[in-house]
Amino acid sequence: MTHTSLPFPDGFLWGASTAAHQIEGNNVNSDWWRKEHDPAAEIAEPSLDACDSYHRWEQDMDLLARLGFSDYRFSIEWARIEPVAGTFSRAEIAHYRRMVDGALARGLRPMVTLHHFTVPQWFEDLGGWTADGAVDLFARYVEHCAPVIAPGVSHVCTINEPNMIAVMAGLAKRGEQGFPPAGLPFPDEETSHAVIAAHHAAVKAVRAVDPGIQVGWTVANQVYQAMPGAEEVCAAYRRPREDVFIEAARGDDFIGVQSYTRTRIGPDGPVPAPEDAERTLTQWEYYPAAVGEALRHTADVIGGDMPLIVTENGIATTDDSRRIDYYTGALASVAAAIEDGVNVRGYLAWSALDNYEWGSFKPTFGLVAVDPVTFERTPKPSAEWLGGLGRSRELPRRTD
Ligand code: NOJ
Repeated sequence: MTHTSLPFPDGFLWGASTAAHQIEGNNVNSDWWRKEHDPAAEIAEPSLDACDSYHRWEQDMDLLARLGFSDYRFSIEWARIEPVAGTFSRAEIAHYRRMVDGALARGLRPMVTLHHFTVPQWFEDLGGWTADGAVDLFARYVEHCAPVIAPGVSHVCTINEPNMIAVMAGLAKRGEQGFPPAGLPFPDEETSHAVIAAHHAAVKAVRAVDPGIQVGWTVANQVYQAMPGAEEVCAAYRRPREDVFIEAARGDDFIGVQSYTRTRIGPDGPVPAPEDAERTLTQWEYYPAAVGEALRHTADVIGGDMPLIVTENGIATTDDSRRIDYYTGALASVAAAIEDGVNVRGYLAWSALDNYEWGSFKPTFGLVAVDPVTFERTPKPSAEWLGGLGRSRELPRRTD
C-alpha cells in the first residue's frame, strides 16, 4: 500500500477531545442535568453516569497516552467549580488540577476548555448569557480557574462552539426543542454578542493568569457550499452563523476549527444531501473532506497567519471501518491544506470515548467503546490506527 507522509510542523498537537458533561456523569448542578429530567424538554435519555470519567479519568488518559496521542482536550465544569453563585469549590478545583498534573505525568499536553455547552443552574436561572452581568460572572469563574490552568496548561479554549450556543438560544426563544439540524436555524443575535463579549473577557482573564498560555475559542464550521448561482445567498447565510465568530477570534493565539459534514446552500437556503448519500448515525452526510474546507475557510476569514487547530473532527458510526475511512479522507484534506500554506498546528479527534451526545448515547463518535454497565473501556481498531499515526505520520493513500 502506498503512503503519504503527513506534513505536520514541529510541535503539532495530536490528540482526542472530550467534554465534561458528555463523559463525567452526575453533573447535577448544571442546566443540562435539569433539562434532561424535564419531560417538557423531550430529551431521549439523560446523561446519568455518562462514562463515569469523573472517577475514571486516569484510565482514559492512560489509554490515550498508550495509543500514541500527545494531546488531550477536556473541559472543566463550571457547575462543579461554582455550584452556587459566588461559592467556589476548592475540592473541585483540586480535582481538575489533578487531571492537569495527571495528563502531564503521562506525556499528554492538556488542552483545557473552560465552557463546553453547560452552565450552572443558577446562571441559567439568572437569565443565562444575555442576563445583566453575565459576562462578568463568566470572567469571575475564569479567574477562579487559575490554579487549574497554571502552571502546565499550554492551550485554553474559552467557549466551545459559541455559534451553536447562539443557535440553541434562538431555538429556545422560538419555543422549539432539540438539537439544531445541520443547516442551522438563525442564531439569537443578543446571545451572539454576549458570548463574544464573554470570550474577550475570558481571554483577558487567562492572559492575566499567565501570558504564556495560548488562548482561543473553538467554532463550529458547517462547510457551507454555494450551489451554482447561490454564492451571495450562501455568504449571507454563513455570516451570522459562522463568520462573525471567526472574526471575533482576531487577536487570540489560535482558533479551534470543528467540522463534521457539509451543508449545501441553494437560492432558497439549505439543500438536503443527495438521496443516495451515505449518512452517519447523526444523519449527517458522510463527507470526510469537510475539515480541510473548514480550515481553508477559517484561514480566509480570519486573515493574517493565525494558527489553526482542529479541535474536533469525527464521525458517529457503529462501523469502525467507516471511521478509519473517514479519518483517512479527513487527514488527507488537512495535509492538502497545510501543503497549500494553511497554518495548521494540531488535530484532535472527536471523540476519545463513546459518550453522551446531548440527549442520547446512540450516536457513537468514540475511538474507545465504553460499556454502559461496567464502564469498561475497549479501544476500537480506529483508536490503535489513529494513535499510531502520531508516531509513524504515514497516512495510507486511498485507492478508491
Ligand atoms: C461538537 C460539540 O462540541 C460536541 O459536544 C459534540 O458532541 C460534537 N460536536 C458532535 O456532535
